[in-house]
Amino acid sequence: MYLRNLITFLILFACLKVVANQSVDIIPKPVSLQMYSGSFEITEKTSIQFNSRQTELEQAAHFLSDAIESISGIQLSFNEETEHQIQLKLTSANMLGDEGYNLNVSADGIVLEANAKAGVIYGMQSILQMLPAVRTNAKLIIPCLAIEDYPRFKWRGMHLDVSRHFFGPDVIKQYIDLMASYKMNVFHWHLIDDQGWRIEIKQYPKLTDVGAWRVDYNHLVWDKRPQAKPGEEPTYGGYYTQEQIKEIINYAAERNVTIVPEIEMPGHIASAIAAYPEYCCTQKPQLPLTGGNYTNMSSNYCAGNDAVFTFLENVLNEVLELFPSEYIHIGGDEVNKNSWKKCELCQQRMKDENLKDENELQSYFIKRIEKFLISKNRKMIGWDEILEGGLAPEATVMSWRGEAGGIEAAKMGHDVVMTPGKPCYFDHYQAGPTGEPLAIGGFNTLKTVYDYEPIPHELSTDNAHFVLGAQGNVWTEYMTTVEHLEYMVLPRMAALAEVVWTPKSNKDWDSFNKRINSQFNAYEQKGLNFCRGNATVAFKPISHAGNLSVEMSTEVLDGEIVYTLDGQDPTLKSKAYNEAIKINSTAVLKASVIANGVVVGTEPSSQNFVMHKGIGCDVLYTNPVSTYYLADGPNSLTDGIRGNGTVGKFWHAFNENDLVATLDMGEIKSISDIKLGCLQKYRDWIFMPKEVVFEVSVDGKKFKEVGRVVNPIDANEAELVYDFKTFFKAKKVRYVRVIAKANVCPPGHNGAGKPSWIFADEIMIK
Ligand code: ACM
Ligand code: ZN
Repeated sequence: MYLRNLITFLILFACLKVVANQSVDIIPKPVSLQMYSGSFEITEKTSIQFNSRQTELEQAAHFLSDAIESISGIQLSFNEETEHQIQLKLTSANMLGDEGYNLNVSADGIVLEANAKAGVIYGMQSILQMLPAVRTNAKLIIPCLAIEDYPRFKWRGMHLDVSRHFFGPDVIKQYIDLMASYKMNVFHWHLIDDQGWRIEIKQYPKLTDVGAWRVDYNHLVWDKRPQAKPGEEPTYGGYYTQEQIKEIINYAAERNVTIVPEIEMPGHIASAIAAYPEYCCTQKPQLPLTGGNYTNMSSNYCAGNDAVFTFLENVLNEVLELFPSEYIHIGGDEVNKNSWKKCELCQQRMKDENLKDENELQSYFIKRIEKFLISKNRKMIGWDEILEGGLAPEATVMSWRGEAGGIEAAKMGHDVVMTPGKPCYFDHYQAGPTGEPLAIGGFNTLKTVYDYEPIPHELSTDNAHFVLGAQGNVWTEYMTTVEHLEYMVLPRMAALAEVVWTPKSNKDWDSFNKRINSQFNAYEQKGLNFCRGNATVAFKPISHAGNLSVEMSTEVLDGEIVYTLDGQDPTLKSKAYNEAIKINSTAVLKASVIANGVVVGTEPSSQNFVMHKGIGCDVLYTNPVSTYYLADGPNSLTDGIRGNGTVGKFWHAFNENDLVATLDMGEIKSISDIKLGCLQKYRDWIFMPKEVVFEVSVDGKKFKEVGRVVNPIDANEAELVYDFKTFFKAKKVRYVRVIAKANVCPPGHNGAGKPSWIFADEIMIK
């Protein structure tokens, strides 16, 4: 039977006509896709064929037949002699690896081959993307084609925080379904944080009886929620029973999704301390937090108390029993070490173990846990803070504070997963913020996600293979509902899927931007909430040699940009953008996108430009600018654009070193007024410089001080912009130098005593 089928198949394929101008909208884009003329229809008479001794194929056959039944009511038979067949085969093709597949569709039938079940399932996901998304009476027609496909990276992850807001098992399954449809394979389940413990641990029932519940302030914005008072009833929360978790793990495994649980330690565990205060340094009871009121909180396990390690090993034993994953995530981020500084047991531990500071104490903590996990044949992964004080010997690092941690770890020969805030944090805005639900901040559009390259250019080819892949992180502080969660994830998850699956050389934004429309239709049919894409106009100032011009771009498919400089909202009749426009005076640039004959988006994108004598001047920095917060390049401080406090698109950042910026105005000019704009944002470790010094020079060699301003801003101010300024008797000079002195985080802050960031937006000269 197999031989006959094979021969028919080969003959058929030989006769097929290649069609170049047709395609299918599969996401992530396959490695190779060849379209042929004709199509195959799945009907009542189609059967699925497989070797019934291969149970993994039988499981895969069920996956496909269930999916086909749910969209059509058709029940496909297994291994019956029907005229039209879908053949599933295990093969041994080197190129395909563990997860690749070959899919051949002819008018006569379908052949799906892979080395392992994962590949068969992925081939089925490709088939399903070509069929209706929901139950219809439409015919199930698939065009004739040949696909060869396999992933670029082995870690194709999505994270979900279920502590800040709780999402029940059905939501988790839907999330896993979405991941699986895009061939994502790691679900990083953030089960524990200050605001709720979400996994049943039988030996410690109070973790969920107490730690899973908090006083409900969900009607208030996250960072405006008061801490609960004793006596207020905790009514908001929830947790997953071990039975539910087992079911979800199996559900995920059927879709080739591995669940990596995150058992956060040693910080971010107020929920555990609420249940068992004896495991923190003060041993004083406290309540799970209601929101983002972190300041002055100390919610760490005590690193000096051996009972803590016994507790954690007992917890981990139950976790390991449940989760078959090779990796266990132990958190490790944002530990406020103040409690350790004041704790006798912690200080004694540091003496006994010869640890020179609290960073080394954190490292001791993590290494001790890693040793335990290794003894159980598991691998430990943690956030990039686990590098501080010394990395555990076999740890894998998840790089979230930019890529620096990942680069450092890879250079040391450790595996890394890339999840830099830009663009992998899907809790950031994607199309606004105007018109979008309130988010924590940031701006990661669909295209910025799509354009992400997980291998940093800093890594040699030898070190690049330590990058296992990348992951999208979904922190839910601002997401109280499933609808909001869906909106933040869709469609960015699809873009990231193509980043981690599709060969770099095959990536093509325009093609993705077209294909995503099929996904939009599917989301609509399934009743999923999603973002239709970013209709804002991106402004790219080009400040150079005394001139300022602006380039504009749009992510809207076939979108055209119209703009004004007179403050009016652009209309269909406004000037069309073709090439970079010159800015010669203080102006408001407003721009909109036109697509299909209408203006899209809720309101125009708008940018103020302030003119001054430094505009377009080249800036030379004595110390390097953060490559992560670069704003729009080296001349960001002379582009006429002020920063934006919440979204933070135009801030230029410095860490540890002074900001020393020297401007060349190109000719002698008479000036009498210099300002430097700076941001303070307590939560994000951004503080005013200690002091700002202003200097001028005629020849660029000898500089003369013309002003000095000591920081007048209280370090406890949560967020504000302040202009350091100096006025002086007019001077004829060519060069201006601004020195902003590095500062540290204030006492009581999470980073107390550590270098803070300087965020500056503009040097304004009059
Ligand atoms: C993190 O975002 N704190 C890992
Ligand atoms: Zn302690």
